[in-house]
Amino acid sequence: MNEFIDFNQSIYPFPTKPAVLDDAEKSFYRQQIKTLLKKHNAVIVAHYYTDPEIQALAEETGGCVADSLEMARFGANHPASTLLVAGVRFMGETAKILSPQKTILMPTLEAECSLDLGCPSDDFRQFCAQHPERTVVVYANTSAAVKAQADWVVTSSIAVELIDHLDSQGKKIIWAPDRHLGNYVQQQTGADILCWQGACIVHDEFKIQSLAKMRMLYPAAALLVHPESPQAIVELADVVGSTSQLIKAAQSLPNQELIVATDKGIFYKMQQVCPEKTLLIAPTAGEGASCRTCAHCPWMAMNGLQAIAQGLQEMGAKHEIHVDLELRQQALRPLMRMLDFSTLLK
Ligand code: 13P
Ligand code: SF4
Repeated sequence: MNEFIDFNQSIYPFPTKPAVLDDAEKSFYRQQIKTLLKKHNAVIVAHYYTDPEIQALAEETGGCVADSLEMARFGANHPASTLLVAGVRFMGETAKILSPQKTILMPTLEAECSLDLGCPSDDFRQFCAQHPERTVVVYANTSAAVKAQADWVVTSSIAVELIDHLDSQGKKIIWAPDRHLGNYVQQQTGADILCWQGACIVHDEFKIQSLAKMRMLYPAAALLVHPESPQAIVELADVVGSTSQLIKAAQSLPNQELIVATDKGIFYKMQQVCPEKTLLIAPTAGEGASCRTCAHCPWMAMNGLQAIAQGLQEMGAKHEIHVDLELRQQALRPLMRMLDFSTLLK
């Protein structure tokens, strides 16, 4: 932890990159992980932003690779007694809240999310207390302590539909923590939304001028954008959507070239569904700017093969997710509402 990022007036430790493994080490850890998964009756629940080799291993071993909503659903429904969550901490916490009887392991408990870090639960409590008349909707990218204060949890794949539903009931809303997603949802629905001012350090880095130039270089390309990106980027998009929606769009669009503004970990799945297409990452540098995350979440990158093997071998305090019972009960209610609402949309 030797580098720091200054974000929204907060200083967060920037994680160290995992060690680069050679082929022999990779195959050693892959084999070890397969043995340990069987031993612990465990499956890997991985996010689309993890490295391709982690996604491949999750698929090969009967786990899942998904967006944050589907990860929650898969983990809750799968009969395994242990879930190895390859993602960031809020995803592990969500799994524990939904399945308290299961052992939830993570390669490292230091895999954070800038949205979660940028919304401390005490500050959020004060914010909500100033607006008691508002319905509190929080993004899944928050701690259990923030979820416990919410009426609803939501992911980007159902955010517009949920806010539209609440707006049709005349509800005024507090939205946290992502300001870009909150702004996007407000524009799509016209709802009365009071927004916490957090942002994702990965999506916040996409650069509008460089992107406009790139579009001139690739005039036939479609632009796919995750709504955690700044408004100027979203406004240029042909498709705006959650990770799973962007993968579906990549497959169904007629364009042979696709420019993608989200974490480049998504390319593994996108290329699987449209192997003949050319995928280009939207620029995160240029015009004198350099990037820090360069379109790959530094916390997602902590989910390396070695760390997964360690998690399954050592288990215990360095890897196991625990959520306080009272907090769990409070956070479960808005999470279940999210899952029930998403089922109605299917
Ligand atoms: P999804 O809900 O689309 O998986 O996104 C989660 C996330 O962390 C995006 O940065
Ligand atoms: Fe959080 Fe952004 Fe990383 Fe997603 S990509 S986990 S929003 S920091």
